[in-house]
Amino acid sequence: MNEPQWHCLGRVDDLKTRPLQQIKAGKVVLALSYRDGEFGAISGVCNHVGGPLGEGQLSAEGYVVCPWHHWHFHRLTGLARPGIPAAAPRYDLKIENGDLLVNLVPATERRNAPHPAHPLTRPLTREPGPVRVLGISTAAMNREFPRYSTSEALLQTALDQAAAAGHHTQLIRLKDLSFRACEGYYSVSAHACTWPCTITQMDETDQLTAVYEALVFWADVVLVSTSIRWGAPAALYSKMIERMNCIQNQITIHDRVLIRNKVAGFLITGGQDNVQAVAGQMLLFFGELGFVFPQFPFVAHSRGWTAEDMERNVAQVRTSKALHDGARALADRCVGMAADLIAAGPGPRKVERGGRKAHRAP
Ligand code: FES
Repeated sequence: MNEPQWHCLGRVDDLKTRPLQQIKAGKVVLALSYRDGEFGAISGVCNHVGGPLGEGQLSAEGYVVCPWHHWHFHRLTGLARPGIPAAAPRYDLKIENGDLLVNLVPATERRNAPHPAHPLTRPLTREPGPVRVLGISTAAMNREFPRYSTSEALLQTALDQAAAAGHHTQLIRLKDLSFRACEGYYSVSAHACTWPCTITQMDETDQLTAVYEALVFWADVVLVSTSIRWGAPAALYSKMIERMNCIQNQITIHDRVLIRNKVAGFLITGGQDNVQAVAGQMLLFFGELGFVFPQFPFVAHSRGWTAEDMERNVAQVRTSKALHDGARALADRCVGMAADLIAAGPGPRKVERGGRKAHRAP
């Protein structure tokens, strides 16, 4: 049995003015709570990925709710909610002469509920075989009566080109997947944005897993098609890339590059203008993920700002030899580059990104 190490936290009258607070006592971080005339102290470090429990909220039932992903630990016992065999360490408290003291030797131990590792946490290895080309169509269509999508049609042309050359292809239409919008955990702390995505870990019904599997583990080439909507990529594209922050964030917080030796290309179509801005956004994002690009990494079409005759748009793309040849050539460039990268062997697992670490919070 360890000797108690009593440490003064401060005056009781001061400490009871806040229902929940994060306090550092020596080397121990505490979530100190006060409710109904009683203090409670549990570890201020969440069992999940270390969120600051004392900066969370107190639930009506007396649980400390982590501000990062809302795990619950009872403020007096440290126990997780009924049915979850986990606990944060609890600390004994006492009051002497108007001061609140804590025993820095935990009264109970941290316990984590057994969790099988998520499949997306497995090591990254490229299985041998032909170049694998993933197409991601971000066109939003009525599921029952889908229309001709100009961007998806060009994507299909590119995939057909790769398949005809003996490469493996896969098409994911985002409209067929049910997945939640990013909840922005990165905005709280870079460490709150986890790999796999926190939503993927919490919600087994979320279907963006198929994209993570294909993009991170399976593909050598990723071709993304989008329409232009009010000068920006399609809404489903934005919804998808916000959920991919967790891929890029692994570089930020762990120097772990999930995307290595992968090539990206884009197919962009719009009724009016802004091809260059949309291409620029896509190049920026996929570049930040770790993708590389061939020369001339996108094919694009728009009718132009003065054209309101959209009924001609589909016919123009459908019959444009130049656009479909361009899509085929883009596929060839991407596949050729991917084959060269595969032959060169794996790239570095860690990268220096020009001083960003200097701005991380300690
Ligand atoms: S719930 Fe606390 S860190 Fe995720």
